[in-house]
Amino acid sequence: MAKILLTGAAGFIGLNVYQRLFQDHEIVALDNFSSFSNHQIKLDRLTYLTGKATPEWDEEMRLKNNDHLFYKLDITDTDRLARLFAKHRFDLVINLAAMTGVRQSISNPVIYEQSNIQGFTNLLELCRIHHVGKIIYASSSSVYGGNKQNLFREDAAIDNLLNYYAVTKRMNELAAENYTTLYDMEAIGLRFFTVYGPWVRPDMATYSFIKNILEERPITLFNHGNMERDFTFVGDIVESITRVLSKLLNGETSSPHAIYNIGEGKPVNLRDYLGILENIFQKKAIIESAPMNKEEMICTFADCSRLFDFIGFKPTTGVEKGLEKTVDWYLSYQSRRKK
Ligand SMILES: NC(=O)c1ccc[n+]([C@@H]2O[C@H](COP(=O)([O-])OP(=O)(O)OC[C@H]3O[C@@H](n4cnc5c(N)ncnc54)[C@H](O)[C@@H]3O)[C@@H](O)[C@H]2O)c1
Repeated sequence: MAKILLTGAAGFIGLNVYQRLFQDHEIVALDNFSSFSNHQIKLDRLTYLTGKATPEWDEEMRLKNNDHLFYKLDITDTDRLARLFAKHRFDLVINLAAMTGVRQSISNPVIYEQSNIQGFTNLLELCRIHHVGKIIYASSSSVYGGNKQNLFREDAAIDNLLNYYAVTKRMNELAAENYTTLYDMEAIGLRFFTVYGPWVRPDMATYSFIKNILEERPITLFNHGNMERDFTFVGDIVESITRVLSKLLNGETSSPHAIYNIGEGKPVNLRDYLGILENIFQKKAIIESAPMNKEEMICTFADCSRLFDFIGFKPTTGVEKGLEKTVDWYLSYQSRRKK
């Protein structure tokens, strides 16, 4: 059993990872519960986890009277973060905390820079100071940006970033490379490809597609729907992280810093993705076409052979099965919310 700091634990992927790792490891979780976006669902995820309708915090901003070691803490708060590292001797850090959402990063770059770059640098520094030699961090398929290659491989040149969110994720990769070169540390960066599944973020297409079909509201498709995403089920992300974690903890790595794509490797056209939801609900979506956004990628397509060679696994759930599970979750979440 390892002692692991998990950041962004009230987030979509964070909650799913927490639920899995909590069974085998001692997890210290944190999140700032930022109200910038998706605030209510972060509270709902915590309620789901703890079974308490309103979380209560002690003076350290740690959950009161609870089995879960969960802090309300911002990774840009250097002093409090330093106290957390001094108090707990972590074996490994998993950084999922970040400002997410491509479009908002265009209008709010400074907030993204603070959480995603400063926050990550704080973690790297504290890992160095406290000899926490192992880090897993979330990067993103968005670093491939305007890359002209069809299939995205980790060794492709990253020189055409389309939005500030991608800039912050690329900065994380460069910072991790630098720290693992200079110090006795190991880091693994994971480039997630459009994740969906239970507890998906309300600002993501999957959530709004489901909601808008059910509520008979229009759905805007950019580039007139001519976009493809390599949708990846969150359960496959969790399985990958769990395996990467064991490799790191068992010292089964071949270099101090490595980056892996985690995607299904099957790009799906957005209209076809919507079509699967229409079939599930037996209801037509109201589609509004819009031109292409400059900050968006037209297609994402992960080559996961490097991941498979490392952990003997790559995502395979498939969008039909994954969307059924997501819809089941959505319906039970909405019915709980109405109570
Ligand atoms: N969901 C995807 O499709 C996807 C794709 C690529 C990469 N990622 C990356 O995976 C990670 C998790 O994504 P997600 O979809 O779960 O997003 P999310 O927004 O649901 O989760 C991120 C969490 O981090 C927290 N957070 C933000 N800034 C913080 C700060 N300064 N201090 C502490 N907590 C902070 C937020 O409150 C949120 O709960 C992120 O790093 C994201 O960039 C996600």
